[in-house]
Amino acid sequence: MRPAIDLSGRRALVTGGASGIGEETARLLTELGAAVAIADIERDRLGEAQERTGAAAAVAGDVADADDVERMVAEAAAALGGLDLVFNSAGIGDDLVPLHEQAVERWQRVVDVNLRGTYLVCRAAGRIMLEQRRGAIVNVSSIVGLGGFPGRTAYGVAKAGINHLTRTLACEWGPAGIRVNAIAPAYTLTPMVRSLLDRQVFDPGRLERRTPLGRLGETAEMAQAAAFLLSDWASYITGAVLPVDGGWSAYGAAGDVDAIRHEGA
Ligand SMILES: NC(=O)c1ccc[n+]([C@@H]2O[C@H](COP(=O)([O-])OP(=O)(O)OC[C@H]3O[C@@H](n4cnc5c(N)ncnc54)[C@H](O)[C@@H]3O)[C@@H](O)[C@H]2O)c1
Repeated sequence: MRPAIDLSGRRALVTGGASGIGEETARLLTELGAAVAIADIERDRLGEAQERTGAAAAVAGDVADADDVERMVAEAAAALGGLDLVFNSAGIGDDLVPLHEQAVERWQRVVDVNLRGTYLVCRAAGRIMLEQRRGAIVNVSSIVGLGGFPGRTAYGVAKAGINHLTRTLACEWGPAGIRVNAIAPAYTLTPMVRSLLDRQVFDPGRLERRTPLGRLGETAEMAQAAAFLLSDWASYITGAVLPVDGGWSAYGAAGDVDAIRHEGA
């Protein structure tokens, strides 16, 4: 038998687990042997997501709300009998409008769900992990947190903040045996991105030509990176922000990758 990532005996909380990258990661962690609790603000979608992922528990609430987070983390830990792993996938996109046209309240909400939510879940889960002197957390950043994207001021600031939070917590909690990493996905085919493509907000051809691997990401590819970072296979990795982006963040030339690829072929 091939050696594989083994998460049996591990108890994992996945926020944003009722859709997209969170749901796919919850499914994979379950498949790799972990007992998983999914958390999401969409209470009505949790039951079906629990069935699809095989999660042992589901908890509802808003990650931007401190009381909700304390309750959700406590409920998840109670249902699973403890907490070893956290995947922070709950997030919302930006309005794709210029900074001066975005309502302050909307800017704040995008920052709160993405950054404050990640901070609050790390804080609540970290207390449990510090006590047991063991744990691993993977936060979800974005390529938008690595470079400037017009129309994404709130989202970009939040994701850049998540990168720094990840590094800081890795340094703070490393001596206690807790690893904290992040993945930074590029455009990934989730329901959210599919609807933007359908509404022609993004031009898929342009995104593909800007990506060295020549295609958009799959949720399974984000889940695999997350599972690796959460597992003992990554036992000496902490404070890393891993781009899972088909080479997007490595590309720095003018124009499309595609042009060179075809001329040179
Ligand atoms: N899809 C992409 O292209 C892409 C790229 C880079 C980063 N990301 C990040 O990946 C993560 C997951 O995105 P996705 O594409 O799977 O989106 P998605 O909309 O499919 O899933 C996000 C889930 O989070 C939940 N959620 C939203 N706000 C919440 C809140 N306040 N409290 C609790 N749950 C909440 C939603 O209900 C949803 O189920 C997000 O952090 C997103 O920023 C996505």
